Amino acid sequence: ATKALKRTLLSIVLSATMLPPVFAADMTRDNGSPVGDNQNSETAGPEGPVLLQDSHLIEKLQRFDRERIPERVVHARGTGAFGEFVPSTDLSDLTTAQVFSPGSKTPVFVRFSTVMGYRGSPEQARDPRGFAVKFYTQQGNWDIVGINWPIFFIRDAIKFPDFVHANKPGAVTGVQDANLAFDFFAHSPEATNMLTHLYSDDGMPDSYRHMDGYGVHAFKFVNSKGEVHYVKFHWVTEQGRKDLRPGEIAASIGSDWNLMTNDLYGAIRKGDFPKWDLYVQVLKPSDLNKFSYDALDDTKEWLGVPERKVGTMTLNRVPNNYFESTEESAFAPSRLVPGIEPSEDRMLQGRLFAYADTQMYRLGANYNSLPINRPLVNVFNVNQDGKMNASGRTGDVNYEPSGVSELSQDPKDKYVQTPLSGTTQQMAIHKKENFKQAGQYFESLDAQGKGDVVTALSGDLSHVTNEDNKYTMLSYFNKADPDLGARLIRALNADGSKVKAMSAKLSDQ
Ligand code: HEM
Repeated sequence: ATKALKRTLLSIVLSATMLPPVFAADMTRDNGSPVGDNQNSETAGPEGPVLLQDSHLIEKLQRFDRERIPERVVHARGTGAFGEFVPSTDLSDLTTAQVFSPGSKTPVFVRFSTVMGYRGSPEQARDPRGFAVKFYTQQGNWDIVGINWPIFFIRDAIKFPDFVHANKPGAVTGVQDANLAFDFFAHSPEATNMLTHLYSDDGMPDSYRHMDGYGVHAFKFVNSKGEVHYVKFHWVTEQGRKDLRPGEIAASIGSDWNLMTNDLYGAIRKGDFPKWDLYVQVLKPSDLNKFSYDALDDTKEWLGVPERKVGTMTLNRVPNNYFESTEESAFAPSRLVPGIEPSEDRMLQGRLFAYADTQMYRLGANYNSLPINRPLVNVFNVNQDGKMNASGRTGDVNYEPSGVSELSQDPKDKYVQTPLSGTTQQMAIHKKENFKQAGQYFESLDAQGKGDVVTALSGDLSHVTNEDNKYTMLSYFNKADPDLGARLIRALNADGSKVKAMSAKLSDQ
């Protein structure tokens, strides 16, 4: 009776803290055998050492020693939630992807993240926010691995490791350093557009619920006639966009640096399910060349191209195991389904390789069979074995073709054919236009938004001790928008005529 009373009392306390109800079972070791004492190690007599033969103790310590896996090389700090996607329109004119079939409902898992901080770092960082969506479709898993802005810092995957090294905590101090970051950006003028977004209030959403998401790159939609359209994805928050202003950030971190997770989970647990509408921009291949910039350059938005609403995503369930959902989840821009293919965007092409590669290192070769990554449809191929394989595959035909075991392939699922011209080369794109959209973005902000860009950007530029890099950065922002340039010059007490002279030498072709 005392035991039952204790259990009832404990369950009241636990339910008050939202822990699950009391669970009772006989404790076992990993082999299933019962444990006699989980509080006292086996010792040689009352004063003697602990015995190596206490295999329960050894196993417990060994398992603890191995609890951590490598954190993601970027986007280590993240938060996941489950939900569903419902299409709102028939898209069969553009794509054969079943996820857009009218009447369908597709389960999703979303992971939001910051980029540069470590796994336990504060969530209110001036950083892009990851917005990765995994659709568990009837044609296999499809991932949109995007961020909260329509553009990125660089346009060629070959620069990505350097970009990350310069922006992550430094190799000597383990602390982020504006000198290193702006040393990289002073030599990467294509980042000016993204930096203007980063230092705007949009660079600091006040919660994950209050931000939009973008696929950033162009992808190809392919319809049943094999026709190709280039598309970009945009998630529009139904909660409205809300940001923290520069003066609000320190207090927000001070009061709760896990605010983004607590806000999202708090809302879902109350039944206030956040929603995002998915929009697509669509271009015919023949329209790609009609812009003054390269339409497949991910440092550019497709300004002026109308958006079409195609569905709504609702997040309605908090995962009940952080490690098995959020940590073990693996998103990749290469995870595509029939009707959706990659564009020739040079950044995207590098990403097609990098994600599955890092996941085979981070989670192991069989990461796709973990419950969070497993497709709803059956997987039939002859990929086999590897660490922690538990595919349950039987039969001795582990090759294809075979006369006794058929793994058929349907030509309608072949990749679409893309016309090509020219020779192999290592050349920058022609229409770089590094500064124009940065200026257009700054000009689109209201007076308060413009002031906040200047406050936030001059705050970080004031830590740059290398004068060459500081003046180069000022010349980029001045080239983008002379008003932005003049305000930064004033805020940093810099030599305006020097900035203007440097800026005049920059080309925006
Ligand atoms: C995560 C590489 C550009 C969005 C990652 C990870 C790697 C990576 C290795 C960790 C994945 C994991 O451990 O599961 C790259 C490379 C890029 C690139 C090589 C350029 C060539 C981008 C761009 C975007 C982006 C342009 C936005 C459009 C993300 C997101 C995640 C991520 C959202 C986190 C996914 C998650 O929540 O698990 N990236 N990335 N990345 N990347 Fe990139």
